[in-house]
Amino acid sequence: MTPTSGQPFVRLEAVSKSYGGGSSKHDVLDQVALELPYGETTSLVGRSGSGKSTLLSLIAGLMRPDTGHIYVGGQQMDQLDDDGRASVRAERIGFVLQSENLIPFLTAVENVELALGFASGRRPMARARELLVDLGLGHRVNHLPRQLSGGESQRVAIAVALANEPDLLLADEVVGQLDSTTAADVMEMIFTACRERNLTVLYVTHDEQLARQADRSLRLADHKVVRG
Ligand SMILES: Nc1ncnc2c1ncn2[C@@H]1O[C@H](COP(=O)(O)OP(=O)(O)O)[C@@H](O)[C@H]1O
Ligand SMILES: [Mg+2]
Repeated sequence: MTPTSGQPFVRLEAVSKSYGGGSSKHDVLDQVALELPYGETTSLVGRSGSGKSTLLSLIAGLMRPDTGHIYVGGQQMDQLDDDGRASVRAERIGFVLQSENLIPFLTAVENVELALGFASGRRPMARARELLVDLGLGHRVNHLPRQLSGGESQRVAIAVALANEPDLLLADEVVGQLDSTTAADVMEMIFTACRERNLTVLYVTHDEQLARQADRSLRLADHKVVRG
């Protein structure tokens, strides 16, 4: 299936998720519905503990909902087993977290190369280098993560996430630990990637101003997703 602009690339129908069971059962998401239009950016805000990371993990197929349906690029994630969801993730989804996205003993280019290797079964160093140069990180290819600034680390992490040419980028508070100028630069990199690569992007942020830069804003409150 070739995705078309304006169509939802991700769709959630009545998705509920709780952790634990019995008396310690903790409801996080209740009958959540949402759509992420193909090729658009969507922001997600909500207080700490409201379930933002849980929602991203469900979309990424890292776990299954208790009830409801999750479609990613026409694949019904909640019907796939662990291997099936892992292959959708490997082929179509990039995921970036607030920190510790990179393998600490590999250089920037080796981190990207590893991501390419997982997808293709090869380790194409040249492509990894090209991608970093493309993303303005040509001067940092041989640096280890600890030798990179916070902003550079996150840019390399985004390069790693984009290595497989995913259709969907999930970004969970990726600029949460950066100063506002660096944060704006890193977000700009994501917005540019969205435009140039036709990516569908869902990003979580605490920053209302960053949230408003998205094509659409969502808010998670009282276990539901509403327009932000
Ligand atoms: N693996 C888990 N086991 C039990 N509870 C969890 C787990 N992950 C998250 N939670 C709880 O679920 C709620 C939502 O967490 P999370 O999705 O991380 O929220 P957010 O990202 O919005 O801060 C929180 O109360 C959190 O403590
Ligand atoms: Mg979170």
